[in-house]
Amino acid sequence: MSSLETTQVYLERHHGGDGRLAAQRTLESHQRNHDASFQTFWNTHVNLAPDTTAHLIDLGCGPGLFLQDLHQRYPDAQLTGIECAPYMLELVDNLPASVQIQVADLNLDLPELFALETVDVALANRLIHELHQPVSLFRNLYRWLKPGGVVILVDMVRQPLKSALLHELKGVSLTDPQVTDEWLQAQFLHYLEHNRYHPEDLCDLLEMCGFELLACESIRSGRAAQIAIRKPV
Ligand SMILES: C[S@@+](CC[C@H](N)C(=O)[O-])C[C@H]1O[C@@H](n2cnc3c(N)ncnc32)[C@H](O)[C@@H]1O
Repeated sequence: MSSLETTQVYLERHHGGDGRLAAQRTLESHQRNHDASFQTFWNTHVNLAPDTTAHLIDLGCGPGLFLQDLHQRYPDAQLTGIECAPYMLELVDNLPASVQIQVADLNLDLPELFALETVDVALANRLIHELHQPVSLFRNLYRWLKPGGVVILVDMVRQPLKSALLHELKGVSLTDPQVTDEWLQAQFLHYLEHNRYHPEDLCDLLEMCGFELLACESIRSGRAAQIAIRKPV
């Protein structure tokens, strides 16, 4: 199996085993995952005029709804999404002709995906925890970004196990018979795969890859963080 196929198999299992359903849920959660807190964070760190021709990339773009939002907001910008899950790509609909989606595995060293220092802004919304490791992506970003270019990262971060379980239990007691072995096994795997890094770990790795930290904010009662970084000028 190629590296891309291995990643696709991993992702479908990580997404719950039913890719089409996961893609549908990604569409349904679009507003929540790009809510007012996200918009404020974006506006604070991404300074682009509506008529910008800048190059923006959405890493792990799913079915492409944020690319559509970006096109509405910056109609003359160059917009590129990167995605590798076939079921996400199947739900891409109505993308303007000027918006491209490239199929690539962001776990890999990809120096040629974009020319050196040609990207102005990159977004990775809930991608990082799905990568085998994030350093290859951070190194790619450093090469692709123009000096002064900005990256916005949003992702789930480490939280205490109790807080994660209480969130999933939704008021049901851990001793309730409806809490089955199967449910528990799925929750503990979910916890491992969605609670991989403290916000400080991500900031440390980004700084070790040469970026300047602009901001790191805790969101969703500490279950997630939004981070802004810049490639030094
Ligand atoms: C949780 S979804 C978020 C989708 C979208 N960014 C959003 O906020 O709605 C993460 C996306 O990243 C994609 N992804 C994960 N690992 C990837 C990889 N190695 N290469 C490319 N895309 C990847 C997944 O297929 C999925 O569409």
